[in-house]
Amino acid sequence: MLNNFLKLWRGKGSGLPVTADEEALIASIDPARLPKHIAIIMDGNGRWAKKRGLPRALGHRAGVDALRNIVKLCRQLEIEYLTCYAFSTENWKRPPKEVTALMNLLVEFLQKEIDELCANYVRVSSIGRTEELPPAAQKALQMAVNKSSNNNGLILNLALNYGGRAELVEAVRQLAREVKQGLVDPEAIDENTIGRYLYTSELPDPDLLIRTSGDFRISNFLLWQLAYTEFWLTPVLWPDFKPLHLLNAIVDYQNRERRFGGIKDF
Ligand code: IPE
Ligand code: IPE
Ligand code: MG
Repeated sequence: MLNNFLKLWRGKGSGLPVTADEEALIASIDPARLPKHIAIIMDGNGRWAKKRGLPRALGHRAGVDALRNIVKLCRQLEIEYLTCYAFSTENWKRPPKEVTALMNLLVEFLQKEIDELCANYVRVSSIGRTEELPPAAQKALQMAVNKSSNNNGLILNLALNYGGRAELVEAVRQLAREVKQGLVDPEAIDENTIGRYLYTSELPDPDLLIRTSGDFRISNFLLWQLAYTEFWLTPVLWPDFKPLHLLNAIVDYQNRERRFGGIKDF
């Protein structure tokens, strides 16, 4: 029997075909214990393209399609925050042609999708040194953030020119400046203080981190914030990542015991 959650989900007309497998997974999800914040390292676009003998840029394009469906599902599930690693501070090392293709895709995605995102109450935000992005990308991002700023649904947080170490360096610099000016007492600095100086000051730490494509590393993503995040790794390449995979990750997450260093029966 379908639970209310599934009925609700279908009733909203996700626009996504619901397979029997998806239905079974959705029915087994406890809506009261959904991850509040999901973070995704969307990796494997290049390998996806290579497998097909296609240029890497087409892999990135297929990756955008996957993202679109995952955003839709997160909205349907009423997930509050989705942070997607789209471009790292190290990705500038790639050939200029690929960097340009990625930036162009970002602009295209934001321009094409903003109306649909707004219609779905999605609010766009970003983390990272976005001021170093090419002007067209900065402009498109600003447009999307502004247009969606009053939406109260899913927060789609794009990590763009993001590096966990760069984020910590900026936070330390800012704190040091304020200490120097006598605004902050070094002895009063605690974990909450540090959190307030990070790009993610407005966001709770991720509950669930997904990395696609089979690599077992965090590649400079959310170094501070992932301290107690549950990891879900899959060999599936990002362009092949489907709602079914996200549903699987959520079901797995709900079967974990998060202890945060404590013990369960005390
Ligand atoms: C992820 O896919 C997208 C970005 C890093 C921008 P990759 O481009 O890293 O794909 P692989 O890892 O080479 O397969
Ligand atoms: C991480 O993937 C960055 C993004 C997904 C944007 P990479 O492909 O850049 O990571 P490495 O180089 O394999 O560690
Ligand atoms: Mg990669």
